[in-house]
Amino acid sequence: MAARRAGAARRGGAARVGDVADLRLADAGQARIDWAERDMPVLRAIRERFARERPLAGLRLGACMHVTTETANLVRTLKAGGARVALCASNPLSTQDDAAAALVRHHGIPVFARRGEDTATFYRHLHAVLDTKPTMTFDDGADLVSTIHRERTDLVPELLASLEETTTGVLRLRAMAKDGALRIPVIAVNDADTKHLFDNRYGTGQSTLDGIIRATNGLIAGRTVVVAGYGWCGRGFAMRARGMGAHVVVTEVDAVKAIEAVMDGFQVMPMDRAAAAGDFFCTLTGDIDVLARRHFERMKDGAILSNSGHFDVEIDLKTLEKMAKRVDRDLRPLVDGYRMRDGRTIYVLGQGRLVNLACAEGHPASVMDMSFAAQALAAEWAATRRHRLAPTVHRVPEAIDRTVATLKLRSMGVRIDRLTPAQEKYLASWKEGT
Ligand code: NAI
Repeated sequence: MAARRAGAARRGGAARVGDVADLRLADAGQARIDWAERDMPVLRAIRERFARERPLAGLRLGACMHVTTETANLVRTLKAGGARVALCASNPLSTQDDAAAALVRHHGIPVFARRGEDTATFYRHLHAVLDTKPTMTFDDGADLVSTIHRERTDLVPELLASLEETTTGVLRLRAMAKDGALRIPVIAVNDADTKHLFDNRYGTGQSTLDGIIRATNGLIAGRTVVVAGYGWCGRGFAMRARGMGAHVVVTEVDAVKAIEAVMDGFQVMPMDRAAAAGDFFCTLTGDIDVLARRHFERMKDGAILSNSGHFDVEIDLKTLEKMAKRVDRDLRPLVDGYRMRDGRTIYVLGQGRLVNLACAEGHPASVMDMSFAAQALAAEWAATRRHRLAPTVHRVPEAIDRTVATLKLRSMGVRIDRLTPAQEKYLASWKEGT
Protein backbone atom coordinates (compact mmCIF):
# COMPACT_ATOMS: atom_id res chain seq x y z
CA MET A 1 0.00 0.00 0.00
CA ALA A 2 2.76 2.38 1.04
CA ALA A 3 4.84 1.52 -2.02
CA ARG A 4 1.84 2.09 -4.26
CA ARG A 5 1.25 5.50 -2.71
CA ALA A 6 4.92 6.44 -3.10
CA GLY A 7 4.80 5.38 -6.74
CA ALA A 8 1.74 7.52 -7.26
CA ALA A 9 3.48 10.43 -5.61
CA ARG A 10 6.53 10.01 -7.83
CA ARG A 11 4.41 9.93 -10.96
CA GLY A 12 2.83 13.23 -9.85
CA GLY A 13 6.20 15.03 -10.16
CA ALA A 14 7.85 17.52 -7.82
CA ALA A 15 4.67 19.40 -6.97
CA ARG A 16 3.22 16.25 -5.43
CA VAL A 17 6.37 14.72 -3.97
CA GLY A 18 8.04 17.88 -2.71
CA ASP A 19 11.75 18.17 -2.04
CA VAL A 20 13.17 16.12 0.82
CA ALA A 21 16.70 14.97 1.65
CA ASP A 22 16.39 11.21 1.34
CA LEU A 23 13.29 9.08 0.77
CA ARG A 24 15.15 6.04 2.09
CA LEU A 25 14.68 7.49 5.58
CA ALA A 26 10.91 7.03 5.26
CA ASP A 27 10.57 3.82 7.30
CA ALA A 28 12.69 5.19 10.15
CA GLY A 29 10.63 8.37 10.05
CA GLN A 30 7.36 6.43 10.10
CA ALA A 31 8.50 4.50 13.18
CA ARG A 32 9.16 7.81 14.97
CA ILE A 33 5.86 9.30 13.78
CA ASP A 34 4.11 6.26 15.27
CA TRP A 35 6.08 6.71 18.49
CA ALA A 36 4.96 10.34 18.75
CA GLU A 37 1.38 9.37 17.97
CA ARG A 38 1.25 7.12 21.06
CA ASP A 39 1.44 10.34 23.08
CA MET A 40 -1.10 12.24 20.96
CA PRO A 41 -4.44 10.66 21.91
CA VAL A 42 -6.45 13.87 21.50
CA LEU A 43 -5.20 14.47 17.97
CA ARG A 44 -5.80 10.78 17.18
CA ALA A 45 -9.43 11.03 18.31
CA ILE A 46 -9.85 14.12 16.13
CA ARG A 47 -8.26 12.33 13.19
CA GLU A 48 -10.66 9.42 13.54
CA ARG A 49 -13.63 11.78 13.61
CA PHE A 50 -12.25 13.80 10.69
CA ALA A 51 -11.89 10.60 8.64
CA ARG A 52 -15.61 9.91 9.18
CA GLU A 53 -16.92 13.46 8.79
CA ARG A 54 -14.43 14.99 6.30
CA PRO A 55 -14.95 18.60 7.49
CA LEU A 56 -12.03 19.89 5.40
CA ALA A 57 -13.12 18.26 2.14
CA GLY A 58 -12.19 20.30 -0.91
CA LEU A 59 -9.73 22.58 0.90
CA ARG A 60 -6.12 23.05 -0.11
CA LEU A 61 -3.95 23.58 2.95
CA GLY A 62 -0.45 25.05 2.90
CA ALA A 63 1.59 24.66 6.07
CA CYS A 64 4.92 26.25 7.02
CA MET A 65 5.84 24.60 10.31
CA HIS A 66 8.71 22.77 12.00
CA VAL A 67 8.85 19.48 10.12
CA THR A 68 8.87 17.10 13.07
CA THR A 69 7.14 13.83 13.91
CA GLU A 70 4.45 15.76 15.82
CA THR A 71 3.74 18.03 12.85
CA ALA A 72 3.55 14.88 10.73
CA ASN A 73 0.66 13.74 12.91
CA LEU A 74 -1.04 17.11 12.50
CA VAL A 75 -0.84 17.09 8.71
CA ARG A 76 -2.07 13.46 8.64
CA THR A 77 -5.07 14.64 10.64
CA LEU A 78 -5.77 17.51 8.25
CA LYS A 79 -5.52 15.14 5.30
CA ALA A 80 -7.89 12.69 7.01
CA GLY A 81 -10.33 15.61 7.21
CA GLY A 82 -10.48 15.60 3.40
CA ALA A 83 -7.97 18.38 2.60
CA ARG A 84 -5.03 18.36 0.24
CA VAL A 85 -1.97 19.39 2.23
CA ALA A 86 1.52 20.64 1.34
CA LEU A 87 4.19 21.33 3.95
CA CYS A 88 7.43 23.33 4.11
CA ALA A 89 9.79 24.12 6.98
CA SER A 90 9.42 27.18 9.20
CA ASN A 91 13.09 26.99 10.16
CA PRO A 92 16.05 25.72 8.14
CA LEU A 93 17.50 23.79 11.08
CA SER A 94 14.43 22.18 12.62
CA THR A 95 13.54 19.73 9.86
CA GLN A 96 13.67 16.04 10.71
CA ASP A 97 14.57 14.52 7.34
CA ASP A 98 13.16 11.12 8.24
CA ALA A 99 9.75 12.55 9.19
CA ALA A 100 9.72 14.54 5.92
CA ALA A 101 10.52 11.40 3.90
CA ALA A 102 7.80 9.39 5.68
CA LEU A 103 5.17 12.01 4.91
CA VAL A 104 6.03 11.86 1.22
CA ARG A 105 6.44 8.12 0.89
CA HIS A 106 3.86 6.76 3.31
CA HIS A 107 1.24 9.49 3.34
CA GLY A 108 1.42 11.04 -0.12
CA ILE A 109 1.89 14.51 1.37
CA PRO A 110 4.29 16.79 -0.55
CA VAL A 111 6.97 18.16 1.77
CA PHE A 112 9.47 20.85 0.80
CA ALA A 113 12.08 20.75 3.55
CA ARG A 114 15.67 19.67 3.96
CA ARG A 115 17.50 20.04 7.25
CA GLY A 116 20.20 22.71 6.91
CA GLU A 117 18.74 24.24 3.73
CA ASP A 118 20.13 27.65 2.80
CA THR A 119 18.03 30.81 2.80
CA ALA A 120 17.36 30.69 -0.97
CA THR A 121 16.09 27.10 -0.70
CA PHE A 122 14.02 28.00 2.36
CA TYR A 123 12.16 30.66 0.35
CA ARG A 124 11.94 28.47 -2.76
CA HIS A 125 10.22 25.86 -0.60
CA LEU A 126 7.87 28.44 0.83
CA HIS A 127 6.86 29.48 -2.68
CA ALA A 128 6.44 25.83 -3.71
CA VAL A 129 3.78 25.49 -1.01
CA LEU A 130 2.13 28.73 -2.15
CA ASP A 131 2.18 27.38 -5.72
CA THR A 132 -0.37 24.76 -4.57
CA LYS A 133 -2.78 27.73 -4.22
CA PRO A 134 -3.81 27.06 -0.63
CA THR A 135 -7.24 28.05 0.58
CA MET A 136 -6.05 27.91 4.20
CA THR A 137 -2.54 28.33 5.57
CA PHE A 138 -0.76 27.27 8.77
CA ASP A 139 2.22 29.31 9.93
CA ASP A 140 4.79 29.12 12.71
CA GLY A 141 6.21 32.65 12.58
CA ALA A 142 3.94 34.22 9.92
CA ASP A 143 6.27 33.55 6.98
CA LEU A 144 3.51 32.35 4.63
CA VAL A 145 1.22 35.24 5.49
CA SER A 146 3.89 37.87 5.09
CA THR A 147 5.06 36.35 1.76
CA ILE A 148 1.45 36.28 0.53
CA HIS A 149 1.05 39.97 1.41
CA ARG A 150 4.36 40.95 -0.18
CA GLU A 151 4.58 38.74 -3.25
CA ARG A 152 1.52 36.53 -3.72
CA THR A 153 -1.49 38.78 -3.29
CA ASP A 154 -3.25 36.78 -6.03
CA LEU A 155 -3.92 34.17 -3.31
CA VAL A 156 -5.75 36.57 -0.98
CA PRO A 157 -9.32 36.32 -2.38
CA GLU A 158 -9.51 32.54 -1.98
CA LEU A 159 -7.93 32.34 1.47
CA LEU A 160 -10.46 31.37 4.14
CA ALA A 161 -8.05 31.87 7.02
CA SER A 162 -4.50 31.45 8.25
CA LEU A 163 -3.65 29.80 11.55
CA GLU A 164 -0.64 31.02 13.56
CA GLU A 165 1.24 28.78 15.98
CA THR A 166 3.72 31.02 17.80
CA THR A 167 3.98 34.21 19.88
CA THR A 168 6.32 35.99 17.47
CA GLY A 169 3.99 35.22 14.54
CA VAL A 170 0.96 36.56 16.42
CA LEU A 171 2.88 39.75 17.29
CA ARG A 172 3.80 40.29 13.63
CA LEU A 173 0.21 39.67 12.52
CA ARG A 174 -1.24 41.99 15.17
CA ALA A 175 1.19 44.67 13.94
CA MET A 176 -0.08 44.11 10.37
CA ALA A 177 -3.71 44.33 11.54
CA LYS A 178 -2.96 47.54 13.46
CA ASP A 179 -1.41 49.10 10.34
CA GLY A 180 -4.49 48.10 8.32
CA ALA A 181 -2.22 45.87 6.20
CA LEU A 182 -3.73 42.47 7.04
CA ARG A 183 -5.95 41.22 4.23
CA ILE A 184 -6.84 37.73 5.43
CA PRO A 185 -8.43 36.40 8.62
CA VAL A 186 -5.90 34.99 11.06
CA ILE A 187 -6.57 32.67 13.99
CA ALA A 188 -4.08 33.10 16.84
CA VAL A 189 -3.74 29.48 17.88
CA ASN A 190 -0.75 30.45 20.08
CA ASP A 191 -3.08 32.46 22.29
CA ALA A 192 -5.42 29.55 23.05
CA ASP A 193 -5.00 28.57 26.70
CA THR A 194 -4.49 24.93 25.80
CA LYS A 195 -1.57 26.06 23.61
CA HIS A 196 0.63 28.65 25.28
CA LEU A 197 0.04 27.65 28.91
CA PHE A 198 1.42 24.19 28.17
CA ASP A 199 3.40 24.19 24.91
CA ASN A 200 5.31 27.43 25.55
CA ARG A 201 5.85 26.72 29.24
CA TYR A 202 6.30 22.97 29.67
CA GLY A 203 7.22 22.13 26.08
CA THR A 204 9.80 24.87 25.60
CA GLY A 205 10.97 24.52 29.20
CA GLN A 206 11.89 20.87 28.84
CA SER A 207 13.02 20.80 25.22
CA THR A 208 15.25 23.87 25.55
CA LEU A 209 17.13 22.30 28.42
CA ASP A 210 17.21 19.05 26.42
CA GLY A 211 18.76 20.89 23.45
CA ILE A 212 21.43 22.53 25.60
CA ILE A 213 22.32 19.25 27.28
CA ARG A 214 22.36 17.20 24.06
CA ALA A 215 24.56 19.81 22.37
CA THR A 216 27.07 20.20 25.20
CA ASN A 217 26.68 17.25 27.57
CA GLY A 218 27.33 19.97 30.16
CA LEU A 219 26.44 19.66 33.84
CA ILE A 220 23.67 22.03 34.83
CA ALA A 221 23.86 21.49 38.60
CA GLY A 222 25.75 24.22 40.38
CA ARG A 223 26.11 26.37 37.27
CA THR A 224 24.66 29.82 36.66
CA VAL A 225 21.98 29.77 33.96
CA VAL A 226 20.87 33.19 32.69
CA VAL A 227 17.33 33.24 31.29
CA ALA A 228 16.46 36.29 29.18
CA GLY A 229 12.70 36.88 29.15
CA TYR A 230 10.23 35.63 31.76
CA GLY A 231 7.25 35.08 29.48
CA TRP A 232 5.65 31.68 29.02
CA CYS A 233 8.75 30.11 27.50
CA GLY A 234 11.19 31.76 29.91
CA ARG A 235 9.16 30.71 32.96
CA GLY A 236 9.15 27.11 31.78
CA PHE A 237 12.86 27.06 31.08
CA ALA A 238 13.81 28.80 34.34
CA MET A 239 11.71 26.30 36.30
CA ARG A 240 13.35 23.31 34.60
CA ALA A 241 16.89 24.70 34.92
CA ARG A 242 16.30 25.17 38.64
CA GLY A 243 15.03 21.60 38.79
CA MET A 244 18.40 20.45 37.45
CA GLY A 245 20.19 22.29 40.26
CA ALA A 246 21.22 25.48 38.44
CA HIS A 247 21.50 28.88 40.03
CA VAL A 248 19.03 30.74 37.79
CA VAL A 249 19.27 34.45 36.96
CA VAL A 250 16.42 36.11 35.07
CA THR A 251 16.60 39.28 32.95
CA GLU A 252 13.45 41.17 31.95
CA VAL A 253 12.23 44.50 30.57
CA ASP A 254 8.68 44.19 31.94
CA ALA A 255 8.34 45.21 35.59
CA VAL A 256 5.43 42.86 36.34
CA LYS A 257 7.17 39.83 34.86
CA ALA A 258 10.30 40.78 36.79
CA ILE A 259 8.41 40.84 40.12
CA GLU A 260 6.91 37.50 39.26
CA ALA A 261 10.40 36.09 38.69
CA VAL A 262 11.58 37.54 42.01
CA MET A 263 8.62 36.02 43.86
CA ASP A 264 9.17 32.71 42.09
CA GLY A 265 12.54 32.76 43.83
CA PHE A 266 14.86 33.75 40.98
CA GLN A 267 17.56 36.38 41.04
CA VAL A 268 16.69 39.24 38.69
CA MET A 269 19.23 41.70 37.30
CA PRO A 270 20.04 43.57 34.08
CA MET A 271 21.86 41.62 31.38
CA ASP A 272 24.82 44.00 31.74
CA ARG A 273 25.43 42.41 35.16
CA ALA A 274 24.23 38.91 34.36
CA ALA A 275 26.64 38.74 31.41
CA ALA A 276 29.62 38.41 33.74
CA ALA A 277 27.95 35.80 35.93
CA GLY A 278 26.51 33.26 33.52
CA ASP A 279 27.85 29.86 32.53
CA PHE A 280 24.85 29.19 30.26
CA PHE A 281 22.68 31.85 28.61
CA CYS A 282 19.38 31.32 26.87
CA THR A 283 17.27 34.03 25.21
CA LEU A 284 13.49 33.48 25.04
CA THR A 285 12.15 36.95 24.32
CA GLY A 286 11.13 37.32 20.65
CA ASP A 287 13.29 40.47 20.69
CA ILE A 288 16.49 41.48 18.88
CA ASP A 289 20.05 41.88 20.21
CA VAL A 290 19.26 40.63 23.69
CA LEU A 291 22.86 39.47 23.84
CA ALA A 292 25.04 42.11 22.19
CA ARG A 293 28.60 43.46 22.09
CA ARG A 294 28.68 44.91 25.61
CA HIS A 295 27.54 41.55 26.98
CA PHE A 296 30.02 39.50 24.95
CA GLU A 297 32.78 41.77 26.28
CA ARG A 298 31.93 40.81 29.87
CA MET A 299 31.30 37.10 29.51
CA LYS A 300 33.45 34.44 31.13
CA ASP A 301 35.75 32.24 29.12
CA GLY A 302 33.66 29.20 28.16
CA ALA A 303 30.24 30.88 28.38
CA ILE A 304 27.65 28.93 26.38
CA LEU A 305 24.98 30.91 24.50
CA SER A 306 21.72 29.66 23.07
CA ASN A 307 18.38 31.01 21.89
CA SER A 308 14.94 29.48 22.05
CA GLY A 309 12.98 32.47 20.75
CA HIS A 310 11.48 32.18 17.29
CA PHE A 311 14.04 34.01 15.12
CA ASP A 312 17.82 33.86 15.16
CA VAL A 313 18.04 37.57 16.00
CA GLU A 314 18.23 37.44 19.79
CA ILE A 315 22.01 36.91 19.89
CA ASP A 316 23.89 39.44 17.77
CA LEU A 317 26.04 36.84 16.02
CA LYS A 318 27.28 39.20 13.31
CA THR A 319 28.96 41.37 15.93
CA LEU A 320 30.24 38.36 17.86
CA GLU A 321 31.82 37.08 14.66
CA LYS A 322 33.45 40.48 14.02
CA MET A 323 34.79 40.52 17.58
CA ALA A 324 36.24 37.03 17.27
CA LYS A 325 39.67 36.37 15.87
CA ARG A 326 38.54 32.92 14.76
CA VAL A 327 35.35 30.86 14.66
CA ASP A 328 35.65 27.09 15.02
CA ARG A 329 32.53 25.52 13.54
CA ASP A 330 30.97 22.31 14.80
CA LEU A 331 33.37 21.54 17.62
CA ARG A 332 30.54 19.18 18.49
CA PRO A 333 27.48 19.06 16.22
CA LEU A 334 26.02 22.59 16.14
CA VAL A 335 28.46 23.95 18.72
CA ASP A 336 30.57 26.84 17.37
CA GLY A 337 33.48 28.32 19.34
CA TYR A 338 34.16 32.05 18.94
CA ARG A 339 37.81 32.68 19.91
CA MET A 340 38.11 36.24 21.19
CA ARG A 341 41.25 38.34 20.83
CA ASP A 342 41.77 38.34 24.62
CA GLY A 343 41.97 34.52 24.66
CA ARG A 344 38.41 33.77 25.85
CA THR A 345 36.15 31.42 23.90
CA ILE A 346 32.39 31.95 23.74
CA TYR A 347 30.34 29.01 22.49
CA VAL A 348 27.11 29.33 20.50
CA LEU A 349 24.64 26.47 20.09
CA GLY A 350 22.53 25.78 17.01
CA GLN A 351 23.80 28.88 15.15
CA GLY A 352 21.55 30.95 17.39
CA ARG A 353 18.42 29.28 16.05
CA LEU A 354 15.79 27.64 18.26
CA VAL A 355 18.05 25.41 20.35
CA ASN A 356 15.30 22.96 21.25
CA LEU A 357 14.64 22.17 17.60
CA ALA A 358 18.16 22.56 16.19
CA CYS A 359 19.93 20.55 18.91
CA ALA A 360 17.10 18.31 20.14
CA GLU A 361 13.73 17.19 18.79
CA GLY A 362 11.49 20.07 19.82
CA HIS A 363 8.61 19.68 22.20
CA PRO A 364 7.51 16.28 23.45
CA ALA A 365 4.53 14.83 21.58
CA SER A 366 2.29 14.85 24.63
CA VAL A 367 2.28 18.66 24.78
CA MET A 368 2.04 19.09 20.99
CA ASP A 369 -1.06 16.89 21.24
CA MET A 370 -2.89 19.87 22.73
CA SER A 371 -1.39 22.55 20.47
CA PHE A 372 -2.15 20.58 17.33
CA ALA A 373 -5.59 19.49 18.52
CA ALA A 374 -6.33 23.21 18.87
CA GLN A 375 -4.93 23.76 15.33
CA ALA A 376 -7.07 21.00 13.82
CA LEU A 377 -10.26 22.15 15.57
CA ALA A 378 -9.61 25.80 14.71
CA ALA A 379 -9.16 24.78 11.04
CA GLU A 380 -12.47 22.92 11.17
CA TRP A 381 -14.14 25.96 12.77
CA ALA A 382 -12.87 28.31 10.05
CA ALA A 383 -13.77 25.84 7.30
CA THR A 384 -17.30 25.10 8.39
CA ARG A 385 -18.44 28.64 9.20
CA ARG A 386 -21.11 29.98 6.97
CA HIS A 387 -19.36 33.34 6.45
CA ARG A 388 -15.70 34.11 5.91
CA LEU A 389 -14.11 35.65 9.01
CA ALA A 390 -13.17 39.33 8.96
CA PRO A 391 -9.55 40.07 7.95
CA THR A 392 -8.14 40.57 11.43
CA VAL A 393 -6.57 38.47 14.21
CA HIS A 394 -9.15 36.19 15.88
CA ARG A 395 -8.96 34.24 19.12
CA VAL A 396 -9.59 30.51 19.11
CA PRO A 397 -13.17 30.05 20.40
CA GLU A 398 -13.29 29.13 24.10
CA ALA A 399 -15.29 26.02 23.28
CA ILE A 400 -12.25 24.62 21.45
CA ASP A 401 -10.04 25.18 24.50
CA ARG A 402 -12.59 23.37 26.67
CA THR A 403 -12.87 20.45 24.25
CA VAL A 404 -9.10 20.02 24.02
CA ALA A 405 -8.65 20.21 27.80
CA THR A 406 -11.52 17.77 28.44
CA LEU A 407 -10.21 15.24 25.93
CA LYS A 408 -6.66 15.56 27.30
CA LEU A 409 -7.80 15.00 30.88
CA ARG A 410 -9.85 12.01 29.76
CA SER A 411 -6.85 10.52 27.98
CA MET A 412 -4.84 10.92 31.19
CA GLY A 413 -7.55 9.23 33.26
CA VAL A 414 -8.03 12.38 35.31
CA ARG A 415 -11.55 13.28 36.40
CA ILE A 416 -12.70 16.59 37.80
CA ASP A 417 -15.73 17.85 39.70
CA ARG A 418 -18.83 19.45 38.18
CA LEU A 419 -20.65 22.47 39.50
CA THR A 420 -23.92 21.61 41.21
CA PRO A 421 -26.96 23.66 40.04
CA ALA A 422 -26.78 25.59 43.34
CA GLN A 423 -23.10 26.39 42.78
CA GLU A 424 -23.77 27.52 39.23
CA LYS A 425 -26.50 29.82 40.49
CA TYR A 426 -24.31 31.16 43.31
CA LEU A 427 -21.37 31.88 41.00
CA ALA A 428 -23.60 33.71 38.53
CA SER A 429 -25.33 35.84 41.13
CA TRP A 430 -24.31 39.24 42.51
CA LYS A 431 -26.87 39.33 45.31
CA GLU A 432 -25.32 36.75 47.63
CA GLY A 433 -22.99 37.97 50.41
CA THR A 434 -22.11 37.20 53.99
P1 NAI B 1 6.05 36.16 25.92
O1 NAI B 1 5.56 37.37 25.26
O2 NAI B 1 5.15 35.43 26.89
O3 NAI B 1 7.44 36.44 26.68
C1 NAI B 1 8.50 37.18 26.16
C2 NAI B 1 9.13 37.91 27.33
O4 NAI B 1 10.38 38.49 26.93
C3 NAI B 1 8.26 39.06 27.85
O5 NAI B 1 8.05 38.90 29.24
C4 NAI B 1 9.07 40.31 27.53
O6 NAI B 1 8.90 41.33 28.49
C5 NAI B 1 10.48 39.76 27.55
N1 NAI B 1 11.46 40.57 26.82
C6 NAI B 1 11.30 41.24 25.64
N2 NAI B 1 12.45 41.86 25.30
C7 NAI B 1 13.35 41.57 26.27
C8 NAI B 1 14.72 41.92 26.49
N3 NAI B 1 15.39 42.70 25.62
N4 NAI B 1 15.34 41.43 27.60
C9 NAI B 1 14.67 40.66 28.49
N5 NAI B 1 13.38 40.30 28.34
C10 NAI B 1 12.73 40.74 27.23
O7 NAI B 1 6.47 35.17 24.74
P2 NAI B 1 6.70 33.56 24.81
O8 NAI B 1 5.44 32.88 24.49
O9 NAI B 1 7.45 33.23 26.03
O10 NAI B 1 7.64 33.40 23.52
C11 NAI B 1 8.97 33.89 23.49
C12 NAI B 1 9.61 33.54 22.15
O11 NAI B 1 9.70 32.12 22.03
C13 NAI B 1 8.81 34.00 20.93
O12 NAI B 1 9.70 34.35 19.91
C14 NAI B 1 8.03 32.75 20.54
O13 NAI B 1 7.61 32.78 19.22
C15 NAI B 1 9.07 31.70 20.82
N6 NAI B 1 8.59 30.33 21.04
C16 NAI B 1 9.54 29.36 20.89
C17 NAI B 1 9.21 28.03 21.06
C18 NAI B 1 10.24 27.01 20.86
O14 NAI B 1 9.90 25.88 20.49
N7 NAI B 1 11.50 27.29 21.15
C19 NAI B 1 7.83 27.63 21.42
C20 NAI B 1 6.93 28.73 21.65
C21 NAI B 1 7.32 30.04 21.46
